[in-house]
Amino acid sequence: MTPANPSPAPDHTAVRVALWRALHVEIDPPPHVFHDTLGAQIAGETNWRIRPDMDPTFSRSMRASIVGRARCIEDLLEAEVRKNALGQYVILGAGLDTFAQRGPDWGAALRVFELDLRLPQIWKKSRLKELGLPVPERLRFVPVDFSVGQSWWEQLVAAGFSARAPAFVASMGVSLYLSQETNLATMKQVATLPAGSTFAMTYLLRPELLGAEEKARMEFVMKKAEESRSPFLGLFSPEEILEMAKAAGFKKARLLSAKEIFRLYFSKRTDGLEAGSAEEILLAST
Ligand SMILES: C[S@@+](CC[C@H](N)C(=O)[O-])C[C@H]1O[C@@H](n2cnc3c(N)ncnc32)[C@H](O)[C@@H]1O
Repeated sequence: MTPANPSPAPDHTAVRVALWRALHVEIDPPPHVFHDTLGAQIAGETNWRIRPDMDPTFSRSMRASIVGRARCIEDLLEAEVRKNALGQYVILGAGLDTFAQRGPDWGAALRVFELDLRLPQIWKKSRLKELGLPVPERLRFVPVDFSVGQSWWEQLVAAGFSARAPAFVASMGVSLYLSQETNLATMKQVATLPAGSTFAMTYLLRPELLGAEEKARMEFVMKKAEESRSPFLGLFSPEEILEMAKAAGFKKARLLSAKEIFRLYFSKRTDGLEAGSAEEILLAST
């Protein structure tokens, strides 16, 4: 049963992916697809390396998927910033994202808006403070719940976001926890941004679209997610996602398939690390 007054605590799904990013740096040989060990510092678990979900073999394709998507989305963001001098970066369901702390030079002028549920966000802010990690002036934390309608957009604007200026909006590992209706409503809101805005969202394929081995793994993960009260609510086919982007009102939409992500970030590796085919990225623009 959920306590009446729950206290600030991390979201366990956000902790897991942050730990996988750190695990990649620790155990996979360089060059690393994505370099982020700060998220694990924020998580602050002493014995995280011996968690069953951090088992090097069990976690292999999942940690590859997590670093592949993080790298891909930051590469897309960098391209937009360099090409169009884009000034706003919105991270939906930011979890233990550390873009603002890593602060790459090319993103130094970006205003960053991290959106997440209230209690995990309070917890994250206090961890950043405890660790003395930078919280730059240009970073805003916006507590929201996407499943309760449009209020998240109002809160974003109240936090200083300009809905009249283009933005890059990223959603990594969030769509699966939202219903189809909530995903569509979120997309519709983002699609109201002015021309030159980008929406990059990862999504998971329905298990029936996967090969036998991946399907079994996905079903296992879904069962665990159900048990830990973070059920997967939004799984899609590529056609459905493109249809939703169109219905939301984006001018253009395309998919970065798992094959394409493999080609970009894993095909030249000699250790065989690869992310499988369960997760893809929707790239839509206004
Ligand atoms: C798997 S984590 C991904 C975190 C981060 N994007 C990453 O890739 O490291 C999912 C995140 O979505 C957030 N989230 C889930 N449901 C949400 C909702 N209804 N409203 C706002 N945030 C939500 C969780 O709190 C968590 O931080």
